[in-house]
Amino acid sequence: MNRGRFITIEGVEGVGKSTNLTVLETLIKEQGFDVLVTREPGGTATGERVRAILLDKEEEKMTPMTELLLMFAARRQHVEQVIEPALASGVWVISDRFTDSSYAYQGGGRQLGSQTIAELEGYVLGDFSPDLTIVLDLDVSTSLARATSGSEADRFESEHQDFFERVRQVFLDRASGDRYRVIDTGQTIDQVQAEIRQVIEAFCCEL
Ligand code: TMP
Repeated sequence: MNRGRFITIEGVEGVGKSTNLTVLETLIKEQGFDVLVTREPGGTATGERVRAILLDKEEEKMTPMTELLLMFAARRQHVEQVIEPALASGVWVISDRFTDSSYAYQGGGRQLGSQTIAELEGYVLGDFSPDLTIVLDLDVSTSLARATSGSEADRFESEHQDFFERVRQVFLDRASGDRYRVIDTGQTIDQVQAEIRQVIEAFCCEL
């Protein structure tokens, strides 16, 4: 039994993660693999309860470090209970966000810095990390306008533009690493989907 692959999709809110996640899932199934789609924070009963606390705008002022620790608490549960067992049984896992979001939002947005996140990552996850990370990128004004139209802003969406500029910059800085592919979602839907297809076909070819 071949181990499954762990793929994450990242980006600032409003870049088009949900639509493109469905595209990604379809493409991987087309390649003949079983796929499990999950998300962070969340993905387990415990993680979803932690998510509700993290996104609740009415929550008392939460310190950046508390926020970070909750993200990693939910993540540890997620990896042990859901992600690892699926990968071990040959299923491919796509997660809507993972540790890169902690680097971007808590490290960059909340300005905790990357060293703190890296230390916690090592402690909580050891060397477990995604095999492929797709970063969807769009200018912040456009993505925020998309994210906040039609629904009430959550605790993160209520942040100011400079917070999201820092978040975006961390995603782009990290994306110079080998496992990342950046896709500009300012292109047409067809162009974006064609790029995702290329990324997945190339990734599957290397297996
Ligand atoms: P979303 O999954 O609906 O995009 O929203 C989850 C929010 O949580 C989003 O604003 C990003 C934030 N987040 C962090 O700040 N750090 C993390 O590690 C993760 C996974 C998410």
